[in-house]
This record gives sequence, structure tokens and C-alpha cells, in this order.
Amino acid sequence: MIVTIDGPAGAGKSSVARRLAARLGFRFLDTGAMYRAVAWAATRRAISWDDDHAIEDLAARLPLTFDGQRVLVGDQDVTESIRSPEVTAVTRHVADNVRARAHLVDLQRRLACGQDIVTEGRDQGTVAFPDAACKFFLTASPAERARRRQAELAARGQPVTLADVLAQQEQRDQRDQTRAVGALAPAPDARIVPTDGMTLDQVVDQLESLVRAYLPQAQP
Ligand code: C5P
Repeated sequence: MIVTIDGPAGAGKSSVARRLAARLGFRFLDTGAMYRAVAWAATRRAISWDDDHAIEDLAARLPLTFDGQRVLVGDQDVTESIRSPEVTAVTRHVADNVRARAHLVDLQRRLACGQDIVTEGRDQGTVAFPDAACKFFLTASPAERARRRQAELAARGQPVTLADVLAQQEQRDQRDQTRAVGALAPAPDARIVPTDGMTLDQVVDQLESLVRAYLPQAQP
């Protein structure tokens, strides 16, 4: 069974998806980590952001694997490095590359094949898994999302002002929503879940009960 969770940056998708997957005993797929890992690798190889073909080629060939909570490129653990502000700033060059996206969506489908999985990103319910059994679209107000992001960065030792987070968030939202392929949008059959004022566990409780209603053993 495939559960998709899409939504804008800072809506809490990653934490919710991870915890929901753990509760259900499903695998968890962080698709943003894929775009980030390709961007990280492109930076390491000094690939020009104008070289669409080289970015596509890298997305097709990068030995990207997930080991529990860790993201690996070859045998190198890049879990932390792909979340740096430097990588965040350039990941759009990979996300905007239509052919690189096709390779990563293909990888997402291969990883999900035959699995019970919770997958999160921007286009999981629309492009990657249009036939998924359960689709959610998490939202929160811009101010709430920025506060969460600021707290997350502070916990990682990367203090930033709320005004800076808000400005960057606005730019990312704009790019995510206007991308030619894989744009951020709820699938027509996705359930919209506003999360303002809710704790992580409250959101997960809500999603868990909805997913459990779809599980075979819950059916009469
Ligand atoms: O979710 P996260 O912030 O880690 O995603 C990194 C970037 O990758 C986002 O800015 C988004 O534009 C892009 N992305 C995407 N499609 C996905 C997941 C992430 O375009 N399925």
C-alpha cells in the first residue's frame, strides 16, 4: 500500500511521514532527499548549473541509497550535508530539470514497488503515485511554517532570523508552485490536512486512523 504526503516546505511532512511510517510498520521515503543528494553531488563535482545534460546524467547514475534514517551516496553518509543551507539553495536546479525529475520519479517507483510505504515530497500524489491508496496534502500558514523551519535550523546549530526564513520560504513556495513538471499541488483525490496549532502527534493520529481504515485487516 502506498501513502503519499505532499505539501509546501515547513508543513511538517517529513516528521509526520517518518512517524506515521513507524507506527504503521511501513517504509518511509524522503523524496526531497533525492533532489538534495543530486544537488550535493553536482556541487562536489563542480558541475555547472547551466549544464542540464550533466545534471540529468548525474540523477540517472548517482548511487543513491537509503539505510534506515541515513541517506547514502555510494558508501558516503550525506544525511547531514544535504540539509545545509548551501545545498538547500541550489537544489532547485535539480528539481527544475525535467529529465532529472523523470529519473528520480523512476527511482521512487522502483523503491516503492511491492512495498508498504509512506512517501513524501511535492508530487507524490500527482506524478509519482497517481494511483496511491491514501493521499494527503499537509498545509500550514506561512508564519507557522517559518517558525517550525527556524526551530529546526536552530536545533541544527544554524540560527537564522524569522524574516530571512520567511523570505526564503516565499521564494521556494513560488518555485515549487510554478515548476513546469512536478509542481506543488494537491492531487484531486488528496485529503487536505491543515496543521496550524496541531502537535506532531495530533497530525499523525489523524493520518494514522485514516490510513488504517484502508488497511486490508480493517475491512469487513
Ligand atoms: O522537501 P525538501 O525541502 O527536502 O525538498 C528539497 C527540494 O526538492 C524542494 O525545494 C523541492 O523543490 C524539491 N522537491 C521536489 N519534488 C519532490 C520533493 C522535493 O521538487 N518530490
